[in-house]
Amino acid sequence: MSFIVVLIGSVTFLHYSTHESPYYYFVFYGELYFLPIVIAGFWFGIRAALAASLAVTVCYAPYVAMHWQGFSLVDLDRILSMALYNLTAVIIGILKEREAIANEKLLKTESLATMGKSLAAAAHDIKAPLVVIGGFARQLRKKFSDYDPNNEKLDIIIEETEHLEKMMHNMLDFSKPLMLEFCEKNINKIVEESRVIVTEKAQKKSVMIDYNLSSEIPATSIDSTRIKEAIINLLLNAVEASPEGETVTLRTSYSESSVIIDVIDRGRGLPTELRKQVFDPFFTTKKEGTGLGLAIVKKIVDAHKGSLELIDNSPKGIIFRIKLPRV
Ligand SMILES: Nc1ncnc2c1ncn2[C@@H]1O[C@H](COP(=O)(O)OP(=O)(O)O)[C@@H](O)[C@H]1O
Ligand SMILES: [Mg+2]
Repeated sequence: MSFIVVLIGSVTFLHYSTHESPYYYFVFYGELYFLPIVIAGFWFGIRAALAASLAVTVCYAPYVAMHWQGFSLVDLDRILSMALYNLTAVIIGILKEREAIANEKLLKTESLATMGKSLAAAAHDIKAPLVVIGGFARQLRKKFSDYDPNNEKLDIIIEETEHLEKMMHNMLDFSKPLMLEFCEKNINKIVEESRVIVTEKAQKKSVMIDYNLSSEIPATSIDSTRIKEAIINLLLNAVEASPEGETVTLRTSYSESSVIIDVIDRGRGLPTELRKQVFDPFFTTKKEGTGLGLAIVKKIVDAHKGSLELIDNSPKGIIFRIKLPRV
């Protein structure tokens, strides 16, 4: 940063100290002011570029005022130069910001792909012994009488292996490439089928699931099994986040370009600082969570060229919105 300050200072010094020199010197010095602005933008982004262009304007403006010739062409040229300094800062800043976002996306995609491969290998190796442990534990549990003192420990083994099996299933699901089979479907039907699957779990928590389905929803080309999986994952999260007695709503609607599925809850919501992380694999705030649910939903929706959004359900809870392109 000090290099840029020195650069602006030096160019300013050249301007003010050589006012007796020929005109083309000033033209050259004027061009030199672009240097710190461009460097600041490339090194530190839009804020630095704007700070540099502002500093240049502040340094240059008195010079322009001191040598004012009453709106001559030279004066106008100098004013235009000042405007150009600031415009350059904005353009370079915006381009740099865009590049940073694209790089971050690429890095994330690459690291997700690497993570997917390692996950698939690990999950594959762990799954087989897990099935054996769970199977034997269930067999033993059946052999023991209901009053056997070992039952409690066996139940824990069964429960924990089931949790691990679920996690392995999710890990394989997340890491495998999606082979989608597209077929034209009515989204309302998929939403209804998803609700049936989650109903029992919701009832256990005394959470209701209701509908608000658009009757004129257009047919969409989707892989219905995968979209159902995505809706179920969102529904499970919504039920888990809801307090007893609350209602989760499934809403469908459409716009000119997309079909929209909203999973709406009135639960505890999510602090703003955590919202960026919820789609990252293994991010969970639950004791028994795998943190793969939303990562899988995102993967499914992306594969459909759709979008997944988290929206505030003011005053309470969250809306997860899936948008799928219309055929
Ligand atoms: N409807 C919701 N309301 C509040 N928080 C949510 C909701 N859905 C997801 N989250 C947050 O996102 C995290 C990640 O969700 P997910 O990927 O499904 O993993 P898991 O459910 O296994 O924790 C959850 O642990 C929770 O903190
Ligand atoms: Mg989940």
